[in-house]
Amino acid sequence: MFDLLWEWLNFAVRWVHVITGIAWIGSSFYFVALDLSLKKREGLPAGVYGDTWQVHGGGFYHMLKYTVAPASMPDELTWFKWESYATWVSGFFLICVLYYGSSELFLINREVADLAPWQAISIGIAGLAAGWIVYDLLCRSPLGRNDLLLYAVLFVFVVAIAWGYTQVFSGRGALIHTGALIATIMSANVIMVIIPNQKKTVASLLAGESPDPALGAQAKQRSMHNNYLTLPVLFMMLSNHYPLVFATRYNWIIVALVLVMGVSIRHFFNSLHAGKDKPWWTWAATAVLFLVAMWLSQAGPPERGEPSAAIPASVEKLVASADFDAVRDIVTGRCSMCHAAEPVWEGIPHAPRDVKLETDAEIALHAPMIYAQAARSNAMPPGNVTEVSAADRETLARWYEQATGQKRHFFW
Ligand code: HEC
Repeated sequence: MFDLLWEWLNFAVRWVHVITGIAWIGSSFYFVALDLSLKKREGLPAGVYGDTWQVHGGGFYHMLKYTVAPASMPDELTWFKWESYATWVSGFFLICVLYYGSSELFLINREVADLAPWQAISIGIAGLAAGWIVYDLLCRSPLGRNDLLLYAVLFVFVVAIAWGYTQVFSGRGALIHTGALIATIMSANVIMVIIPNQKKTVASLLAGESPDPALGAQAKQRSMHNNYLTLPVLFMMLSNHYPLVFATRYNWIIVALVLVMGVSIRHFFNSLHAGKDKPWWTWAATAVLFLVAMWLSQAGPPERGEPSAAIPASVEKLVASADFDAVRDIVTGRCSMCHAAEPVWEGIPHAPRDVKLETDAEIALHAPMIYAQAARSNAMPPGNVTEVSAADRETLARWYEQATGQKRHFFW
């Protein structure tokens, strides 16, 4: 029962996260494009930087942008902040459900670092907070006055963090945490800098003072960082479905390449929306970087010692179960041809989703997933290519339910 709830919770949180992410990124793309399309011209009202016309949904919009602010406060003002906050909160919830809830499976790789779950989780959460603090200090330092230099330093910083994560977490845990750190920086930019600065601007307006333009400039700088980080963060979030990206030796260099690709693609669109020349070369550069990433991903898994055969205490019961011999036979006979360090199934270059089912420890650690994929559903093997029988599925189910005390039905 618990597993059923967990699986649905996972799905629900992911659903919310994708929706809020679309809302956030959608509005942020929209505003960047809007900003860039503004045209300065004669005859605009005082305080207006530029205007632009748009057509959508059966009507025309005439958009004006006031920098720093209009002379008096409008009666109604729409703020864009909940999209960002909700994306971060749902994302954090998702990382808790998926990576912290199943840390032995997804976050910890005992060949990399033999961490206890609480240690891995603490590193994960502390890293997110520390990463934001360092980023914010860098932006506020004298470096922050030179945009290009700041970009270069931030690039090195993020790549160093990604490398650091690969030294403590599984490849999957490392990439998701790199993505989560970037996303935390982006959300914190909104809640800690962009919105407070806008609030101060509004407050000065209401007090009849003229707002400090530095507030707007700082918000704009953070907003540009967010803009350039959007595409890499999406790559990082999706990367955990692609073992050749996250579970190969140069995964952190791939992160570096993706950061640059994100910037080069955004540069194209930013120039396009600004009505400047279209820098087509950015696509060529992106394609080259993509090819380099593909090439690096062939390097195979990181060289580590032999996988530890020790059975973690948390799954001892599953291995000790009377059904385990039968389970091992089913899994090694019907699953391991694909789910192995070196799969023998044609067209499967790497263990799918990095799920390896060869040793007793691996089988036991993946038990909840085996249960969901092959006992309670017939998702695995794909198309039942290895002909798992109904009796085999029943054995897998019984093994898991008895050893973990799971009830099969929630509603009856
Ligand atoms: C023919 C190759 C093949 C065989 C045999 C196979 N799998 Fe898979 N497995 C895959 C592929 C491909 C994926 C990735 C599916 C995807 O990305 O949606 C996968 C994914 C999985 C996942 C991860 C699912 C997720 O959502 O992360 C689990 C767990 C799994 N398989 C278990 C099993 C079990 C248990 C068996 C044996 C009963 C099995 N597989 C047999 C190819 C195979």
